[in-house]
Amino acid sequence: MADLQLRGVRKAFGDTPVLRGLDLDIADGEFMVFVGPSGCGKSTLLRLIAGLDEASGGEIRIGGERMDGVAPADRGVAMVFQSYALYPHMTVAQNLGFALRMAGRPKAEIAAAVGRAAEILQLSPLLDRLPRALSGGQRQRVAIGRAIVREPRVFLFDEPLSNLDAALRVQMRLELARLHQALGTTMIYVTHDQVEAMTLGDRIALFNGGRLEQVGPPLEVYERPRSRFVAGFLGQPQMNFLPLAQLAAADRAAFLGPSDAMDGEWVLGVRPDHLQLLDEGQGLAARVERLEHVGDAALAWAKLDAGDATLAVRLAPGGALPVAGARVSLRPQPGRVHAFDADGIARPLSAATAIATEAAATQPA
Ligand SMILES: Nc1ncnc2c1ncn2[C@@H]1O[C@H](COP(=O)(O)OP(=O)(O)O)[C@@H](O)[C@H]1O
Ligand SMILES: [Mg+2]
Repeated sequence: MADLQLRGVRKAFGDTPVLRGLDLDIADGEFMVFVGPSGCGKSTLLRLIAGLDEASGGEIRIGGERMDGVAPADRGVAMVFQSYALYPHMTVAQNLGFALRMAGRPKAEIAAAVGRAAEILQLSPLLDRLPRALSGGQRQRVAIGRAIVREPRVFLFDEPLSNLDAALRVQMRLELARLHQALGTTMIYVTHDQVEAMTLGDRIALFNGGRLEQVGPPLEVYERPRSRFVAGFLGQPQMNFLPLAQLAAADRAAFLGPSDAMDGEWVLGVRPDHLQLLDEGQGLAARVERLEHVGDAALAWAKLDAGDATLAVRLAPGGALPVAGARVSLRPQPGRVHAFDADGIARPLSAATAIATEAAATQPA
């Protein structure tokens, strides 16, 4: 078990910067998720931590120790990849024990470690099978088991579930959470999947173009996104965005409340869960374009009369459903509107008012 400290970590491939100076502390025993769109540098950072690649600058410490020049095998980390790459001619037991055999450990110790890992991962009945006789999920469990037998200080997972079908991913997600609970070892988990990030992480670190956009517990990041990028990344369907300029003056009060008269290039955001769909004349005038049913939940897509925005509204289960083409009005739940300035940074609405007022006051006449 160990904590990690990253200080100003940079990586460039040739002239192309990929990590632009990352600072992050990961606590001993924490489940930290690196999440972000494809190509934002998550795997690169994981490889630097594992020692598979060298940083262009900055400092990586594991358990307080600087990792410069420390070989991957001596870092006390074990990595699990998306492609599980088991040895096809070895049984599950042999695959699990491979690293320990290579390290020349005594037979009894290897057998005990393999037995323990197999039990944790429910692989005990499969120990004599070859990989080709396993399902995808079982193979990925063997790959995870190979990491467990090495008793690492830190587990590194790089999109380990991406090759599995949806139902299996849900099941493996549960197993990984259980594994973390059982072992208590520090884990860093890379994914582009926001659901995995939200459900697995003690904290999530959201990457954007080689930088950390926001770090925090999943719900905190979801409820208080620091930027429009974060707000748009987490949530399915994503937060509705509405340029303030598209709102008629009369509608601003309906959307924002009378105290938040704003101006300028602000963009408002409200999640589909926080929009109410009402009869005509009670908010922003709109027309229902389309209804989607997802199991017991329903989603309405409503096009506003003003501007060209179509907003998603999550409908309360069991409630009356509008028909496509119906005239309706939309109103956000009080206190659930986010505001983003011209740089995409989230601003508290009262502050937005203050800044807008200030800007108006300093405008040359
Ligand atoms: N060995 C490499 N040489 C050159 N560019 C690379 C190399 N590895 C990764 N990159 C680039 O670095 C960026 C980040 O890649 P990566 O860390 O794999 O992203 P992620 O895991 O977030 O999808 C990408 O633009 C990728 O093309
Ligand atoms: Mg990757």
